[in-house]
Amino acid sequence: MIKTPLCEMLGIKHPIIQAPMGPFYTTKLAAAVTKAGALGIISHTNLFGVDPVKDMEKNILEVKENCDGPFGVNVRVARIQVDAPAILEKIVELRAKDPELKERLKLVITSAGNPEPPAKFLKQKDPDLIHFHVAPTLYHAMKVDKLCDGIIATGYEGGGHQSYEGVTTMVLIPEVVNNCSKPVVACGGISDGKGLAAALAMGAVGVQMGTRFIATKECEFHPAYKDFVVRSQDRDTVVTTGAFGPIRLLKNKYAMEHPRVMTKEEMMAKEAQLTPQEIAEDMKKYELVYKGDIDNGPVLCGQSCGNIKNIPTVKEVIEGIVKEAESILKGLHKYVA
Ligand SMILES: Cc1cc2nc3c(=O)[nH]c(=O)nc-3n(C[C@H](O)[C@H](O)[C@H](O)COP(=O)(O)O)c2cc1C
Repeated sequence: MIKTPLCEMLGIKHPIIQAPMGPFYTTKLAAAVTKAGALGIISHTNLFGVDPVKDMEKNILEVKENCDGPFGVNVRVARIQVDAPAILEKIVELRAKDPELKERLKLVITSAGNPEPPAKFLKQKDPDLIHFHVAPTLYHAMKVDKLCDGIIATGYEGGGHQSYEGVTTMVLIPEVVNNCSKPVVACGGISDGKGLAAALAMGAVGVQMGTRFIATKECEFHPAYKDFVVRSQDRDTVVTTGAFGPIRLLKNKYAMEHPRVMTKEEMMAKEAQLTPQEIAEDMKKYELVYKGDIDNGPVLCGQSCGNIKNIPTVKEVIEGIVKEAESILKGLHKYVA
């Protein structure tokens, strides 16, 4: 049994968090992850023109109904994410009126923007709700350390939204642990028990995984997406420009035609000029992928696809990872004289 302070903090059996994977739905996945003793996370969804605030409420109620344990939600707080404040208000409102949600909806992970406004809002309106924020560099982590209850330190190997700085997990975790006081969750490129054992050895209290959980039976991503992940190798991802910063995705027609990453300044200038129509058009490409067209939209995926070669159940993934990490951690004393 591996037990870390993260287990106690979130009321989970295993120190594993399922990464948010918006704009795609992860409600079925989140329920399965929570049932398996880790923490399922509801993603910030905004596909098919659905109102994101209503969608978040629906997703929360669905996960609440479909499992018993604790779970969390993600809210992206990027500059262009104008729905973020209303989603946070909805989460606080739902917890205030439903004692079961107050108990079970334990964690908000904010990401892709400034942690200060959500941290101030949550501390004032719902101080019991645990708040982690995603940090891709030590600079960002030190800001999060002052404002939030925990840090998701995310390296460049990971799938989806990435930073301009490109710091990898192996470098990021020890420096964040060495310089911050809040619990650190390691994220980016972790897909097995070796990754969990390494993260704990580097001082993290747990791991967060996205790509590994895509290739599971319960994940609601299209079978073509899952198949693309398991037949890809570590060299098959690329980082391109996304709607708000770089994104790591599998090489396909969309990725090859999409602009390479530009400087942060250039990107911010481009972002400022984006029209609502252009943003909506890019969202449609995500909808294509969600429906199974893996050529003409962004198939977000981390480099760990090279190490993921099967599509087991969520329970098999989680129990396999914990078992492998336990055995590694117990065996390492052989190297100590
Ligand atoms: C399909 C996909 C969608 C993602 N969407 C989000 C998102 O909406 N919000 C967020 O904070 N991170 C998002 N990410 C990043 C993940 O939360 C996590 O940082 C990443 O998957 C970790 O790396 P790994 O894929 O190697 O496990 C996404 C990742 C993937 C693969």
